[in-house]
Amino acid sequence: MPVKAVTDESIREAAALLRGGHLVAFPTETVYGIGANAFDERAVARIFEIKGRPSFNPVIVHVADAQAAEKLVEMDDRARAVAARFWPGPLTLILPRRDGCPVSGLCSAGLPTLAVRAPAHAVAQKLLKECGFPLAAPSANKSGTVSATTPAYVAQSFGDEIDMVLASGPCAIGLESTVLDLSGSKPAILRPGAVTAEDLAPVLGGIDIDAGNHEKPKSPGQLLRHYAPSIPLRLSAVDLIPGEALLAFGSEKFMGIRGGGAAKDLPDESRRNLSETGDLNEAAANLFRMLHELDRPDHKSIAVMNIPEQGLGIAINDRLRRAARRS
Ligand code: TXA
Ligand code: MG
Repeated sequence: MPVKAVTDESIREAAALLRGGHLVAFPTETVYGIGANAFDERAVARIFEIKGRPSFNPVIVHVADAQAAEKLVEMDDRARAVAARFWPGPLTLILPRRDGCPVSGLCSAGLPTLAVRAPAHAVAQKLLKECGFPLAAPSANKSGTVSATTPAYVAQSFGDEIDMVLASGPCAIGLESTVLDLSGSKPAILRPGAVTAEDLAPVLGGIDIDAGNHEKPKSPGQLLRHYAPSIPLRLSAVDLIPGEALLAFGSEKFMGIRGGGAAKDLPDESRRNLSETGDLNEAAANLFRMLHELDRPDHKSIAVMNIPEQGLGIAINDRLRRAARRS
């Protein structure tokens, strides 16, 4: 599958492929997505097939702006207010489908709702405008595995199963969008992301938000084991077991290896630091790439240092907890 640098020509080519029912991976500010024409049932079905995605897990439909979303879903005042404040950006809204909504039913996985998001990445915006139709786009990883924040990982995961990768370097945010359910009377965060409950509260006029963190996922995609490397993760580690790799956050100075030795003695391929200065934005942007880099059969497991449960740390810990589960 061709990996193409972004030019006006490659954008036109990508749009033509999508119009013809093919799949194209493209960058967003959160993670790379695998796009299909959301009106094309067969193209959307193909996404489920190549991701190995269970058919009960609905897919986000990407639009250029709120005006485009209005054609697909019932936007109420709350939806208009948060869209006006956070779109384009890393926020997905779950809303009732409009009567006669032309988006493939597969995107809703049998639910009466649809997830819509206007991404902020300039390439995603250009592609959406060139297409003129919405793009169904889940994260560009095999179902359950670590999400892709670089074009190389997309290409490695899918090879010829997709028809083009629009390559534009690493994603700035690195974690999937916040999923906010506005289909019921009480707004609920189904997946934490860069737009936090504190960011949303004032825009929702002080309405109580269900901030999620349930053991039982309300979003069908929040399967317990998700975002997972092939080797185990050990969270909130304060030292290392021999044979483990280290995913550090902040200073590694006090990380020792049980039985003797220090983290700094580990070989380069066994040690990553999400952010030496303890910056959560930097940590989010590095998370999936570093998990992927440490996911080697010669590591027994990955020891992850504690990450504070605040701001973006909530979303980072959400991904880490799911990645750490064995089932
Ligand atoms: O940042 C993102 O959101 C990325 C980029 C590519 O935009 N996309 C992404 O898509 O993460 P995906 O398919 O990997 O995750 C979509 C999440 C899943 O947890 C899914 O269950 C949930 O959104 N979702 C989608 N439609 C839904 C619906 N109608 N009701 C409840 N949850 C829904
Ligand atoms: Mg995903």
